[in-house]
Amino acid sequence: MRSSERKFALIGFMGSGKSCIGKILASRLGLPFADLDHEIERARGSSISGIFQHEGEAGFRLLEEKALSDLSGRRGGLVLSCGGGIVMSPANRALLSRAFTTVWVDVPLPELLRRLEGERKKRPLLDSDDYAEKAASLMEARRPLYGESSSLIYRWTEGESTNDSASAIMELISG
Ligand code: S3P
Repeated sequence: MRSSERKFALIGFMGSGKSCIGKILASRLGLPFADLDHEIERARGSSISGIFQHEGEAGFRLLEEKALSDLSGRRGGLVLSCGGGIVMSPANRALLSRAFTTVWVDVPLPELLRRLEGERKKRPLLDSDDYAEKAASLMEARRPLYGESSSLIYRWTEGESTNDSASAIMELISG
């Protein structure tokens, strides 16, 4: 497949930097970039927090599944940043394996907690005082699913910038 036709998906926990890295990757690869949460917000005319509030997590997951399925059928190449819970659905996991080159951006939990502390309001699942415990239990449940859905794993290490991460992923996908 020509590289201009390839679809890449970035998966990983909230706060792992998928959107920032994805934008850089897309520009280096000369491909369009899409953020699945933004696609959902646009289609629904509501923020992610609003969707959780009015339709619950189950309602959000249905919209997420439809958005991934729509994007996977779009013609041409793409770099897609996915929400951290994308792997909860077996249908999404199958699609990520089949229709995308999927890269897991794996960032250690202590670093994620540091990044997420001031951003909890934007993430309904972590918008509570016990967010650290919630994040730990979500991470434990999801790690195997991130592994199962991805063909490549990028492991962030201390001191790496977003640009460094994008460069490392460029090497992974061209290797
Ligand atoms: C979620 C992650 C969020 C967003 C929603 C649910 C999750 O995306 O899709 O709040 O279940 O991990 P980010 O990973 O971009 O924060």
